[in-house]
Amino acid sequence: MKQSSPALGLRVLQAWLKSGSPLSPLQVMAEEVGYFFQIPLPAFHPYVVFGPQANRAVLVTQRDKLLWRNTDPVTDLLRRGVLVVDGSEHDHVRRLMEGSLHPARLPDYAEMMVNQAKRVSDRWQEGEVIDLLVESRKIALLIIFQALFSEDVGHDLPNLWQPILKAIAYISPGAWILWRKIPRPGFRLPLQQLDAYLYHLIAKRHSGAPQADLLQALIEADLEDDVIRDQMLTMLIAGHDTSTALLAWVFVLLGQQPAVMQELQAEIESNDKSPLLDGVIKEALRLYPPIHIGNRCVVETFELEEGVIPAGERMFYSIYLTHRDPRVWEKANEFQPQRFIGGRQTPPFSFVPFGGGPRACIGAAFGQLEARLVLTYLLRRFSFEPLQFERIHPHMGATLEPRPAVWMRVRRRRGW
Ligand code: HEM
Repeated sequence: MKQSSPALGLRVLQAWLKSGSPLSPLQVMAEEVGYFFQIPLPAFHPYVVFGPQANRAVLVTQRDKLLWRNTDPVTDLLRRGVLVVDGSEHDHVRRLMEGSLHPARLPDYAEMMVNQAKRVSDRWQEGEVIDLLVESRKIALLIIFQALFSEDVGHDLPNLWQPILKAIAYISPGAWILWRKIPRPGFRLPLQQLDAYLYHLIAKRHSGAPQADLLQALIEADLEDDVIRDQMLTMLIAGHDTSTALLAWVFVLLGQQPAVMQELQAEIESNDKSPLLDGVIKEALRLYPPIHIGNRCVVETFELEEGVIPAGERMFYSIYLTHRDPRVWEKANEFQPQRFIGGRQTPPFSFVPFGGGPRACIGAAFGQLEARLVLTYLLRRFSFEPLQFERIHPHMGATLEPRPAVWMRVRRRRGW
């Protein structure tokens, strides 16, 4: 591994200050140091790896040397959720939940997904300026609660909104990275409210009629209510915050490229299968992967061509850097949806928006169907005019989000 120099340190700092986002300094590190480096902070020095070879090692060939479970707020919040447990415990709960997200089940959700997009967008006034980050979250929340817990949260959404945003803020990077035990006021109450709601859904199901959903699968497996709550909260956060970010980034990218938006709207006007829409979704996932890193704890020496990571260290594989690697992607920083159209291939593990291997995203097919259906519906029905886009930058929350907002003026298109 190449050592960092003072000149590199300065460039890293400049990139950070100029972009206002920690992603730019990571990109400078990647360009200057290569596929393997260590973040040079005093109390926080994880190894960062990326690129097809490293991803394959992390996700498949050397995955047994790694744990998903870490000591951090994600684990504190999700407790024994599928995302943060390992071994047979993980495999058991994952198997229970896979049925509800299996591609064969997806047609059952299609109409409901479109209906939720309709329901939210029915409230938009002609010419109103809306924040597509907020509106996307509403749609994604209605969809996930209905699909996995058969619960229509339309009425409860105003009460759930803050507790859910607080849960996301709780697990987002912050000062706790440098000081693990830093006091974190303001979270206890909203997190309790969210828990109370989930336990209420569990109790209602114990005493009510069975449904064909994910909650039922957990109940019938005789898990303790606490463990059911952990899976529900995991699926709720992982299953909606990601889709929210994806939808919002698509609107950002289309707002920045009006010609692509026009072409896309013309293509989906009459056609349910739009290759351009698939290309736009993939390109949004490439440039702004909602989950931009995978977090691991190394339990046995991890060896790559570029270097060795000793046991006990924390390691990230960077999906963001993988997707912007100029050694793989031509004009890596440009939005070019065409690159995914017409069967052009990049090496295996060079496009990993859903991770890979046995612990790849359980909701990958669900999330992509949702994005396709919601976008088709909204782009057919409305025109979107971007406002104040110059301020948008990627924010590292629980996912990579466009901040401060995605303001767009909406108008109904002819015929709607
Ligand atoms: C655009 C949408 C989505 C993106 C980009 C995304 C991305 C990812 C990624 C990258 C991982 C692997 C992380 C790692 O290797 O550390 C992952 C895992 C996971 N995702 Fe997603 N996801 C999306 C949608 C969903 C949905 C809709 C659900 C649930 C309905 C979901 C639930 C999960 C769960 C439970 C895991 C952990 C799986 C395990 O460890 O076995 N995700 N997701």
